[in-house]
Amino acid sequence: MRSHYCGQINSSHIDQEVELCGWVHRRRDHGGVIFIDLRDREGLVQVVYDPDLPDVFSVAEHVRNEYVLRIKGRVRARPEGTVNPDLPTGEIEILGLELEVLNRAETPPFQLDEHENASEEIRLRYRYIDLRRPEMLEKIRTRAQVTQVLRRFLDDSGFLDIETPMLTKATPEGARDYLVPSRTHPGSFFALPQSPQLFKQLLMMSGMDRYYQIVRCFRDEDLRADRQPEFTQLDIETSFLDEDEIIQLNEEMIRQLYKEILDVDLPNPFPRMSYDESMERYGSDRPDLRVPLELVDLRDLMKEVEFKVFSGPAKDPKGRVAALKVPGGSSLSRKQIDEYTKFVAIYGAKGLAYIKVNEIAKGVEGLQSPILKFLPDEVAEAILQRTDAEDGDLIFFGADKRHVVNESLGALRVKLGHDLELLQGEWQPLWVVDFPMFEWDEQHDRWTPLHHPFTSPKLDQLDVLESNPGACKSRAYDMVMNGVELGGGSIRIHQQEVQQKIFELLEISEDEAEEKFGFLLSALQYGCPPHGGLAFGLDRLVMLLTDSASIREVMAFPKTQTAACLLTAAPSEVGADQLRELSIRVRKPVSEESK
Ligand code: AMO
Ligand code: AMP
Repeated sequence: MRSHYCGQINSSHIDQEVELCGWVHRRRDHGGVIFIDLRDREGLVQVVYDPDLPDVFSVAEHVRNEYVLRIKGRVRARPEGTVNPDLPTGEIEILGLELEVLNRAETPPFQLDEHENASEEIRLRYRYIDLRRPEMLEKIRTRAQVTQVLRRFLDDSGFLDIETPMLTKATPEGARDYLVPSRTHPGSFFALPQSPQLFKQLLMMSGMDRYYQIVRCFRDEDLRADRQPEFTQLDIETSFLDEDEIIQLNEEMIRQLYKEILDVDLPNPFPRMSYDESMERYGSDRPDLRVPLELVDLRDLMKEVEFKVFSGPAKDPKGRVAALKVPGGSSLSRKQIDEYTKFVAIYGAKGLAYIKVNEIAKGVEGLQSPILKFLPDEVAEAILQRTDAEDGDLIFFGADKRHVVNESLGALRVKLGHDLELLQGEWQPLWVVDFPMFEWDEQHDRWTPLHHPFTSPKLDQLDVLESNPGACKSRAYDMVMNGVELGGGSIRIHQQEVQQKIFELLEISEDEAEEKFGFLLSALQYGCPPHGGLAFGLDRLVMLLTDSASIREVMAFPKTQTAACLLTAAPSEVGADQLRELSIRVRKPVSEESK
């Protein structure tokens, strides 16, 4: 039907006849001449219809935005003064000789170049129109290039692309499962995989040695900008490699990806930081290292002060008191500080004490703060010293349970970095290593795995595994980029006794372990090689590479924050017959009104 893509025509085609297909981006009448910007995947080109050809001209008069056309015309240079340097095809135009309307279109619910006025709801409901926008097209195209580069790297490195089941048994990645009822086994359910974790481990036991898969994962969890119920992992597993080798291999892959997609040279090697250090300095296990602010611990200084807000958490083994110095921050207004106080409240902080450093030479006299009256002068001076404060700085304080201080000051640190335009360096990758094996679940009064229960403890820590589980470190690693957790993985347990011991520690009973993971425990007995791997969040990777605000922007058909698809109106009710066939009876939650 066509000889070229619209966006590919340039001055080398001048005087040639071309045939193009595409959508009407815009139609303009200019004193008897009609201009149509015709658009396809590769771009826009201007087609001109002249009244000298009355038949074609009258068709052109009736086309509207988003009509689908097939045209034939002759490429010519644009007249002097009408060249458009912003458009790749801006030096030429096409004199239209033929025009066929392949299909008409209703007026779209939003204009493609005015999408900013369209709500995300409208954009998602009419996603097929939203995806016509060059910006969206570009993101989807980049996504395809990303998977191409990743596949090439892994194929060249001897990895086998192997598929694993979608209808399977629950795997514990910490979220709720999406369940699928079985018709042939009434009352039984498949779970959609939260990840292919167990299958990829089984593939190592099969001797596949190097596996990868670009695979859909399903997690019924609270959604955010970087979380979807259905998302894509680049999932990797290897045998006989230790964590350094796995880290190096994956780092090389990401470096190659950044080089090919953005022509960016990432550092070699990526820096590494222990989990403990990352929490201490940044209040987060995925620190954005572009933000040059750090948390400074004040616990020792605050134990004896009168101010209970600080001395309480300082004395509590589960508490933390920390400062966050903002260079030049003393110019923040009262209103701005109130806004930041509201912001940290989202993370459970009960307040946000601060000291403005006006003139350090004057000692305590040169400071301004609602909490100074509660702090002895020598403590105030020690704070200035420890935070390296200078005139014009502002120091924020957090005091609470450790996780509240870390989460609130950690998030504040990033917010301040953006608000005050402090970001340094465009790309800051980091490996976070030496994760704890377990964290204490206050609600259920037991240990839970920080990663997943198949993660190996550090070999030299097997003896503290039982005596002090909280102190035991794992062989897990996460790759972080600009504050986003891009991927994570670990060396796995390959010995059945160790796996069983971990299940015991997690208070997973023998029966439960047998019922849920019997196949894994059994497989561990038949010659399991040492193995390990990791999984990247492909959507997050593409989000970063395309500078998008959310992973929804880089998925062709994403779901909403309430895990629904507006385009197809899924999930939806199903007929009584279908339910009966599945032996399912639905009991709807009682609505507030009818209660
Ligand atoms: P994990 O649970 O850390 O590890 O997931 C790996 C990566 O997947 C991405 N990710 C998500 N992306 C979008 N939406 C979500 N809801 C979502 N959840 C996770 C993140 C994350 O780093 N089986 C292990 C990997 C392993 O140990 O090899 C796993 O799934 O970028
Ligand atoms: P108050 O005595 O509660 O009025 O608090 C005095 C100052 O301490 C105010 O600036 C509060 O914002 C701040 N503040 C209160 N609780 C905390 C907390 N847990 N962490 C940090 N600052 C706090």
